[in-house]
Amino acid sequence: MAQNSTSEQVFRDSASEPTPVPTLPQVGASSRTGDPVLLPFSHPAARPVADGGVSDAPLLRHLRGERSESEDTPAPVWFMRQAGRSLPEYREARGTTAMLDACVTPALAAEITVQPVRRHRVDAGIFFSDIVVPARLAGLGVEIRPGVGPVFDHPIRTAADVDALPPLGDDYEAALDPIREAVGLTVAELGTTPLIGFAGAPFTVASYMVEGGPSRDHLRTRALMRSEPETWHRLASWVAELSGRFLRAQVLAGASAVQLFDSWVGALGADLYREAVLPHSAEVLGAVADLPVPRIHFGVGAAHLLRPMHEAGATVVGVDHRMRLDEALEILPEGTPVQGNIDPAVLFTAEEVRYAEARAVLAAGAGASGHVVNLGHGVPPETDPQVLTDLVAFLHAQR
Ligand code: CP3
Repeated sequence: MAQNSTSEQVFRDSASEPTPVPTLPQVGASSRTGDPVLLPFSHPAARPVADGGVSDAPLLRHLRGERSESEDTPAPVWFMRQAGRSLPEYREARGTTAMLDACVTPALAAEITVQPVRRHRVDAGIFFSDIVVPARLAGLGVEIRPGVGPVFDHPIRTAADVDALPPLGDDYEAALDPIREAVGLTVAELGTTPLIGFAGAPFTVASYMVEGGPSRDHLRTRALMRSEPETWHRLASWVAELSGRFLRAQVLAGASAVQLFDSWVGALGADLYREAVLPHSAEVLGAVADLPVPRIHFGVGAAHLLRPMHEAGATVVGVDHRMRLDEALEILPEGTPVQGNIDPAVLFTAEEVRYAEARAVLAAGAGASGHVVNLGHGVPPETDPQVLTDLVAFLHAQR
């Protein structure tokens, strides 16, 4: 992966004393030297909560698998899609700004990221952006149509389409500046609550590019993978570099953990995943493997892929609501922290049903070295925000 020496120098500015932080196993594919990069004092993950940082915040301790038997602290919780349409303050802040324009307006992206932390008291912010933002920053025509999802002007379906993709040089590095600025504003506002950076995984992002828009079964993408593997691999490695550099920019600017979303990867069998997808997802996770931040990998309907998704260089595996966490723990290597997996349907049930599900999820995750509570997939837009606020309070009251 091409590295940007400029941003790295800024990041390691010797004016602020570099502080070593706990290291994670170097399982990423392309960690350049294998040596962990030191974070400057200005990075939130370089300082403990007592000094205004996040390095020992509950979220990060669980993501590192440092839960201790003796402690009486609740499992940390955040929700995928916690920012966004379920919140009236989001609708107000967005106004008529198009979704992808909002993502590249630093003050607005920062404000929207912080809103659910303020309201629900969740244990992490998730950077407000989208998996197709990097493609937009690289110059592709893409928009998010309300109620539909990402739609590309020109689907990428042939070798010639892949040849015509823009090169990801210094222009792309410069185009990431609003992201760096948004992350900087966000972590200043979040204080001792960690920010999770994220990127879309090559399969999920490329499937939008190949299909042109959302698709139920990703047939064209799966057909391309099988009929023109060479074209597929070139497309997936372009997306891997795109997403990897987006992810690295967020961490260097202040994110303390990352999540790679491969939402639609459950459409693939394990053999095709290993051959056509795993190496590319490994490249994205490898783009931050030399940085001391936990790497969460998540897919929907991907219970049959938990092991290869871990092998791709994840340090934490996100599990959707279709598989119990204790079953996932039997599949994953000993000691792997997990994230998940309250069924989003219980956001629309009576409170007893919801809290019974929350208790069951805590019990199923109790055997993990670390457990970060989340939903099995994102917050549906029609969710009553008070239900989420109360669910966080309920989870925080459990021991
Ligand atoms: O989780 C968060 O709160 C952080 C922000 C975030 C968004 N998208 C904001 C968003 C994240 C992490 C994503 C990732 C994303 N985007 C994924 C992976 C996660 C998942 O949900 O599986 C995927 C598949 C996308 C693509 C995408 N973007 C879809 C399918 C949609 C929904 C379209 C619709 O209107 O139903 C979007 C739009 C989107 N991304 C919204 C938000 C807040 C809604 C935009 C709006 O307000 O109209």
